[in-house]
Amino acid sequence: MIGQNSKVLLGPVDQIPVGQGRCFVVHGREIAVFRSRSGTIFAVENHCPHRGGPLSEGVIGDGKVVCPLHGHKFDFQTGQGSEAGECVAVFKIRQEQGQIILEK
Ligand code: FES
Repeated sequence: MIGQNSKVLLGPVDQIPVGQGRCFVVHGREIAVFRSRSGTIFAVENHCPHRGGPLSEGVIGDGKVVCPLHGHKFDFQTGQGSEAGECVAVFKIRQEQGQIILEK
């Protein structure tokens, strides 16, 4: 688990192609980090609550990621899924001097 007030450096933003996501393992937990076309980054847990699809491999757009397996959508801000009862954990993330910093 990520402790309170902990920060984890994930390396340069450039390692994530614009418009795509990438999976990072942080303290044993898979986290999908996305870089939107506008340059903003977002982070949600990588594991889709439907059947475990890798959200980091999903398509992003309109503030959401689309699971590559069955197309359920998850909001980057709230983690809320398009299907009733499905949601993912959302992580606080920011960029500083071209580096990705995950916070909690
Ligand atoms: S595993 Fe993600 S929608 Fe089915």
